[in-house]
Amino acid sequence: MKSKPPFDHNIALIGFMGSGKTTIANCLSSMFAMETIEMDALIAQREGMSISDIFDKYGEEYFRTLETNLLIELQAKSNTVISCGGGVPMRSQNVVEMKKNGKIVLLTAKPETIYNRVKDNHDRPLLEHNKSVSYISELMEKRREKYEAAADLIIETDGKSKEEICQEIVDKLQNPNQVPYGKL
Ligand code: S3P
Repeated sequence: MKSKPPFDHNIALIGFMGSGKTTIANCLSSMFAMETIEMDALIAQREGMSISDIFDKYGEEYFRTLETNLLIELQAKSNTVISCGGGVPMRSQNVVEMKKNGKIVLLTAKPETIYNRVKDNHDRPLLEHNKSVSYISELMEKRREKYEAAADLIIETDGKSKEEICQEIVDKLQNPNQVPYGKL
């Protein structure tokens, strides 16, 4: 039987596309009795089409509103790891929702690492015709301020295994006094 998580709040994983949110969410829920919700997968399932098709058919704003509505709905949950789409922290309302019931953990990775992780995927409409380290780097810089402002905890993922990353998250959530900036 999986053990109870050593904290009583949800975890919202944020970060750029390809920063490892889904992998780390699954890793956390394999360690603890926590449910994983992958926002993109749930939105695609409910809409009956891929994220790329939602963007094509209804446009980005429609998708962003689906994200916000889902986050509001998810506040009723406990013992949950939410793997957020990369654009979620860009709307301040989303950050307010995530903080109501959870800690926000930002996963970071170098643009080169991201490029290698996303280059063969075709369901990321914002990258589909822009797959290059320079484009990723530019978009990452545009988002950095909002990502960092939203985060209670920032975890660098380059060169670490998923198990190491999960352990670091758990240790830091349990020992907030050792986290720099005192954000927790
Ligand atoms: C997006 C990230 C994607 C998905 C959509 C838009 C973004 O999720 O929500 O393609 O704006 O960064 P992942 O971060 O899970 O790839």
